[in-house]
Amino acid sequence: MSKQASNQTGNDSGNDLMTKIVSLCKRRGFVFQSSEIYGGLKSCYDYGPLGAELKRNIAAEWWRSMVYERDNIVGIDASIMMHPQVWQTSGHLSGFSDPLVDCLNCKERFRADKAPRAEPGSTANYVQGGKSGGAKLAGTVSPKGYVCPQCGAPTLSDERQFNLMFRTTLGPVDPLTEVARELEGKSLPAAKIREMLEEAAKRNVTYLRPETAQAMFVQFLNVQQSMSMKVPFGIAQVGKSFRNEIVTEHFIFRSCEFEQMEMEFFCEPGTQKEWINYWRDERMAWYHRYANDKSAFRLRAHEDDELAHYSDECYDVEYRYPWGWGELEGIASRTDYDLSRHAAESGVKLSYFDQQKNDPATGKPGWRYVPYVIEPAAGLTRSVLCFLIDAYAEESGVDAEGETKTRVVLKLHPRLAPYKAAVLPLVKKDGQPEMAMELVKEFRRLGINVSYDDKQSIGKRYSRHDEIGTPFCLTIDNDSVKDGTLTLRDRDTAKQVRLPVAEAVAAVKAKLDAQ
Ligand code: GAP
Repeated sequence: MSKQASNQTGNDSGNDLMTKIVSLCKRRGFVFQSSEIYGGLKSCYDYGPLGAELKRNIAAEWWRSMVYERDNIVGIDASIMMHPQVWQTSGHLSGFSDPLVDCLNCKERFRADKAPRAEPGSTANYVQGGKSGGAKLAGTVSPKGYVCPQCGAPTLSDERQFNLMFRTTLGPVDPLTEVARELEGKSLPAAKIREMLEEAAKRNVTYLRPETAQAMFVQFLNVQQSMSMKVPFGIAQVGKSFRNEIVTEHFIFRSCEFEQMEMEFFCEPGTQKEWINYWRDERMAWYHRYANDKSAFRLRAHEDDELAHYSDECYDVEYRYPWGWGELEGIASRTDYDLSRHAAESGVKLSYFDQQKNDPATGKPGWRYVPYVIEPAAGLTRSVLCFLIDAYAEESGVDAEGETKTRVVLKLHPRLAPYKAAVLPLVKKDGQPEMAMELVKEFRRLGINVSYDDKQSIGKRYSRHDEIGTPFCLTIDNDSVKDGTLTLRDRDTAKQVRLPVAEAVAAVKAKLDAQ
């Protein structure tokens, strides 16, 4: 079998690959457009039966490697809405914004930092209104040095900062209704109405979290004390985050509602260099463990001018998406910034006392310090996309009838695959369904997710399970009923072997455990 289309780069083949993946996601129940019957909701997606499994499996593997396999990391599941002061202190309220610009020609609204660059003072050609048939115009690129990504016009509004957090209110009173009531029968200047609206918006305001990380900082002390954690230790969390992204792109790559897998690792000041190297290597090894093409993952160290003001080192794990290299995970050394800020604003000492160490400042026994933090912050929904791209393959080969066929196969790592095995009775009679069901029950007793599939021809069933990444198919046929054997088919090689029915579940389990 030869692999024809897999993880291609370059625009045409890349677009083509993305179109195929998006289509497979819908056809096979991985990802659907949200609210599709009403025309969909921009950049919102629903994970279908198989997408939900894939996402859960990725999160479970992350949790296993970060929490279950370590003595010094524990997990939490914090609320999405937090005290608004959290976002004031973390800097998200003042700083978590993108520069937003309107094109005065075609009315496109876009992010200035993502716009196509153009030499300041050079001439940009564009079409009036951005519509075909419009007058051909030319304009001068401003000192800002970019043009509209839609129509190429240099006629742009000033940049406005747009905060990415979704704002909402807690409680039964809608602030807008309150303002409307206050305004009844009054005629006030626009500035006054604006002031009233801004005031009202602040009452009972809360935000959907834009990252899961802050809960780990504000619960640092509760977790450390309740679990008697000793530095170095980590707090892990998987959950939803929300960002009102101006530009959503590439299917589930960048969406407004997404999931993250983040871990805050608290360490002694001065050891952060050692720990960031450790976590950088651990996280790359984790991706490599599940990937078919390891070369599609790389590490990129942040340049000094890219680092956030509180960060002293940062790496991105990047993936070679069909449109080029892009971020998959950030691994940042965040110094003691977050704990110190929250301690200062809340008045609660978010520090750690190490009885075994001498205070380096005084030389006396016992050292109280604010731990430094290393944060591996991965995108869960982005990982779903990355592993789908990594797994997608088209292979041509000669089938049993001697015909050349192309098969689509998702070579998902068995631990990530939605179904670990499919049990397929060849026909729906002669005791075959009953035998197959016995096997299914045995798998289920072991907690292994299997599919019982008796629909359509066996060839179509194999194709279906190749396309959804089921690593093993167990086929019950006439001989199974007679001699107690079945066929075990391997997804990646399409090779089939005969083995006793009584040994089948253990054989599949052994293969899964070996991964
Ligand atoms: N606490 C640090 C933090 O949130 P980030 O780089 O903004 O860092 C971490 O986010 C990861 O979350 C990213 O590497 C990416 O995988 C994922 N992510 C961020 N914004 C996203 C979005 N709008 N849609 C999907 N995934 C996103």
